[in-house]
Amino acid sequence: MADAMLYTLEGDIAVLGAQNPPVNALGLAVRQGLMEGIARAEADGAKALVIYGTGRTYFAGADIREFGKPPMDPYLPDVCLRLEASPLIIVSAMHGTALGGGLEVALSTHYRIAVPSARMGLPEVHLGLIPGAGGTVRLPRVAGVMAALDMVTSGRHVPAAEALDMGVIDRIADGDPREIGIAYARDLIDSGAAPRPVSELPAPEGIDFDAAYAAALAKGRGQLSPAYGVRAVQGACELPFLDALKRERALFSELMETDQRKGMIHAFFSERAVSKLPELEGVAPRDVQALGVIGGGTMGAGIATAALLSGLSVVMLEMSPEAAQAAKDRIAGNLQGALKRGKIDQAGFEHLTEKALTLATEYDALAGADLIIEAVFEEMAVKKEVFRKLDAVAKPGAVLASNTSYLDIDEIASVTSRPADVLGLHFFSPAHVMKLLEVVVGEATAPEVAATGFALGKRLKKIAVRSGVCDGFIGNRILSTYRTAADHMVLDGASPYQIDKVMTDFGFAMGPFAVADLAGLDIGWAVRKRKRAEGLPEGARDSTYVDKLCEDGHFGQKTGTGFYIYEAGKRAGVPNPQVDDLIAAERAEQGITPQDFSDDDILRRYMAAMVNEAAKVVGEGIARRPLDVDMVLLFGYGFPRFNGGPLKWADMVGLEGLLSDIKAYAETDPHFWTPAPLLEQLVAEGRTFDDLNKG
Ligand code: 3HC
Ligand code: NAI
Repeated sequence: MADAMLYTLEGDIAVLGAQNPPVNALGLAVRQGLMEGIARAEADGAKALVIYGTGRTYFAGADIREFGKPPMDPYLPDVCLRLEASPLIIVSAMHGTALGGGLEVALSTHYRIAVPSARMGLPEVHLGLIPGAGGTVRLPRVAGVMAALDMVTSGRHVPAAEALDMGVIDRIADGDPREIGIAYARDLIDSGAAPRPVSELPAPEGIDFDAAYAAALAKGRGQLSPAYGVRAVQGACELPFLDALKRERALFSELMETDQRKGMIHAFFSERAVSKLPELEGVAPRDVQALGVIGGGTMGAGIATAALLSGLSVVMLEMSPEAAQAAKDRIAGNLQGALKRGKIDQAGFEHLTEKALTLATEYDALAGADLIIEAVFEEMAVKKEVFRKLDAVAKPGAVLASNTSYLDIDEIASVTSRPADVLGLHFFSPAHVMKLLEVVVGEATAPEVAATGFALGKRLKKIAVRSGVCDGFIGNRILSTYRTAADHMVLDGASPYQIDKVMTDFGFAMGPFAVADLAGLDIGWAVRKRKRAEGLPEGARDSTYVDKLCEDGHFGQKTGTGFYIYEAGKRAGVPNPQVDDLIAAERAEQGITPQDFSDDDILRRYMAAMVNEAAKVVGEGIARRPLDVDMVLLFGYGFPRFNGGPLKWADMVGLEGLLSDIKAYAETDPHFWTPAPLLEQLVAEGRTFDDLNKG
């Protein structure tokens, strides 16, 4: 008997407990243990077999680390068929999360019981896959087509009570999973129950699967797995059981070979690896319970909201009582959203707004704070003034953080007497919603201060990524480069609307020009004015057509007009014809003869700019690993998860082709297109970005 499954016999009930921590993934040893366990229970003359998980969960799915490698016998679908066909009464007793292959095993057993806190689902879709061990064939038989389609295409985790209503499980009972499983098996034996294979249930009536397929493809912005899930469920309705299983397996195997699957599994592991930095291993973070926030505008209010929701107390410091009240109103508005979604109740809302939040206008109020985040105006002089005052009042050991988007953390830290306690905590707007947090580690930042940034990120349920200090840190620096590439393409002949369309077809929720409208065109205008005042570098290209929109008071969504015109009540805009005229005038003024850009030209240039800058960011050590960049773009900039992140995507399309594109672009614009040394090095050595993640 393989050690991964613990076999015991309790009278006429055999019991198999999975022991493959941390999540009882269904790796080879577990599958072997299941096969051996069934045979042994049958040989021992047991009447029933109970399957459960030791530790924190029932099986949380197939072992994802085995994907992409040659499959090893016994295969999970065969294990499922073996379970289903056994003459014993087989009971699954579930706790924790029964996911993917885990739920598929459960559906192959004859009866299912779960503790109230258990959750179950078929999340394969998030790995670029569909269930591959009968989930799409058995689930519609027990829960119906619509429920199955929902679970297969969304991957959502269904709580036990809902699973009971859906018919996915038969019973809920409180207690130890092994004990409730044995008790259920006893009841079944005593009541003369028989094995009950799901395969013997009739196939459900079908629906308009072509429409469901098209809807899934559109909703996933080109992600294949939800749409393939629809086809697999269709097979369950239209084909005999075993043929439907074959159809599911064929679709599963097809997806296994796709870049989307590789991209999404890269995202799964990177999301977990990103906060594990070798340099912070064993470094204890400082304790943080009381937070101070300076500046309660868009960002400060969002940060305070996230902190309050995670149980921290917040002192909010503003410039005047009126501004403090306005900050409180913003926070209360955010918390109203949480109240509406049932994340907090009315009493919780009142506690957070009236007790956990304190308003202040004097710095003394921050004396007790463990960590203070500044989110005042983006001006170095203002930031320095704030940090000087903070230095005077903050208690020893307090962490002092800036939410600056671009400014130099080292320069900010230099005005304090304790630069080791200073770091950047760069949140994204809206800060209580967006998952990304860049932890910006300065030259002098102490390791435990960086660790405290990561601990805070975890507490606020953020994906925290380490960044070094540079203009714009990881994300905004790369954004600014690919935005510039897009601006150059517009000057040279592409339309902003074509570029937006190409990038949404690639999988971004919005294209760069729609994003500019959302953020406010005034922001970019201010940056351009500042850069022109500082003097543009030799050879840099510039354009002023967007300034003309701004001069007329068109700042994008907030004024109703920008690159797009937004009708009241509608989120998506229609192209603004004035923009084409302004661009044409600008080209004429600069003596540019517009050239045609195919969709492929646009995608290649846009992505080449993104990858090249990302490679510079890694090469300079601003990001420690390529996966850090990938997670920044995924969680802060809407990069489509099924493409893995820019550097995983680069690996998949091939670094050599990207480098030769960059070199070709450099022939006409050597200022903008300078190949990243790291990219050149990887191409020369025949290595990939992913190779650097492993080191
Ligand atoms: N295979 C291999 N490793 C897994 C795994 C899996 N299915 N699920 C989790 N792990 C690993 C994680 O990588 C992590 O490793 P680390 O400690 O080295 O970083 C460790 O287990 C703990 O995972 P989490 O940090 O995510 O723990 P949480 O408690 O936060 O979450 C969970 C637990 C909800 C189970 C979450 O890990 C999860 O969602 N796992 C993936 C579940 C899944 O997608 N299952 C379907 C797999 S595909 C499949 O079954 C195909 C089948 O149809 C044939
Ligand atoms: P905002 O203008 O909405 O809010 C700034 C707030 O700071 C105002 O309420 C103002 O009253 C207050 N303030 C200004 N000086 C102060 C002082 N000396 N003491 C106390 N309060 C003071 O600005 P926003 O957008 O919230 O940005 C704040 C910071 O966050 C900036 O550094 C910005 O670069 C950064 N940031 C902004 C993002 C965004 O999308 N808006 C995203 C990430 C970072």
